[in-house]
Amino acid sequence: MRIALAGLGTVGAATVRVLRANAGLLKARGQEIKLVAVSARDKRKDRDCDLSGIKWVDDPLDLAYQDIDVVIDTISGARSLTLEIAESALGNGKHFVTASKALIAAHGVDLARTAEKAELQLSFEAAVCGGVPVLKTLREGMAANRISSVRGILNGTTNYILTHMHEDGVDFETALAEAHRRGYAEADPAFDIDGIDAAHKLSILSAVAFGVVPDISDISTEGIRSITREDLRDAAARGGRIKLIGTAIRKGTRVIQRVQPAFVPLEEPLSRVGGVLNGVEISGDVSGAIFLQGLGAGGDATASAIVADLVDIARGHRSFAFGVPADSLITNN
Ligand code: HSE
Repeated sequence: MRIALAGLGTVGAATVRVLRANAGLLKARGQEIKLVAVSARDKRKDRDCDLSGIKWVDDPLDLAYQDIDVVIDTISGARSLTLEIAESALGNGKHFVTASKALIAAHGVDLARTAEKAELQLSFEAAVCGGVPVLKTLREGMAANRISSVRGILNGTTNYILTHMHEDGVDFETALAEAHRRGYAEADPAFDIDGIDAAHKLSILSAVAFGVVPDISDISTEGIRSITREDLRDAAARGGRIKLIGTAIRKGTRVIQRVQPAFVPLEEPLSRVGGVLNGVEISGDVSGAIFLQGLGAGGDATASAIVADLVDIARGHRSFAFGVPADSLITNN
């Protein structure tokens, strides 16, 4: 299977490394996955990955015209460009794999419709909770269930900040700078801090869990700017932690969605999800409650999800992007 990659930042470079390091395993699990073309902003930049033998393409929109089967998008922060890359890929008969939650939250349904018509795969496991296979769990592992709720820590940066402030007594700005240095934060960290990134992810989770059209305007969203070290100390004294929690609950025919800082008692597993980890609880009517935890941000974790999507395509597995046909998703009102 021949693939092309747009973006060589933290996630793109990690994807190149995984494809090289685990090439034999990936071949055994599906078929050989050959990265044949890449595109990124700056050709001269020194990157922590081996690009030998890979064609450099200046314009990412030209990737769809290469002799390939799949286009991968790891460009963050430029939604109009990622949308053009997605449309050019699907419009030219290429499967499309993306890590962009903003893209999928805003345009995922249209892209899914295009993919279905063209009999192509649209995949975005990396867009939600990095290396934690939560979409696959919902779409496939829990396919027998009517889901009643999804609740979780969906943003690694804010969880890292809150944990660092709590454990080391540092202030908000110091913790944010460290998260940025470690490559966790969005290009615009306001997306993390104000809960927008978590809302994008929650909207995608809701779509897969409940069959509703992703819509962040339907999510009441509050970030962590106003949380102080004193708040965290106070929560600890009361036997819990403050976490930025995304919740989607089915109430009759509606899904109620919100992202907000919340007190989580120590008895709940989410209280112990620390640092850059994400954690998600899913309740299904047949399976009961499921709890997933893992790295929600960072190059390797996100690359793990991207490459898993590639292996699915290499195996010939095809699934509706949101678990159901795009036209059957309903507006949540
Ligand atoms: N900034 C995001 C986070 C990256 O911290 O979770 C992964 O989506």
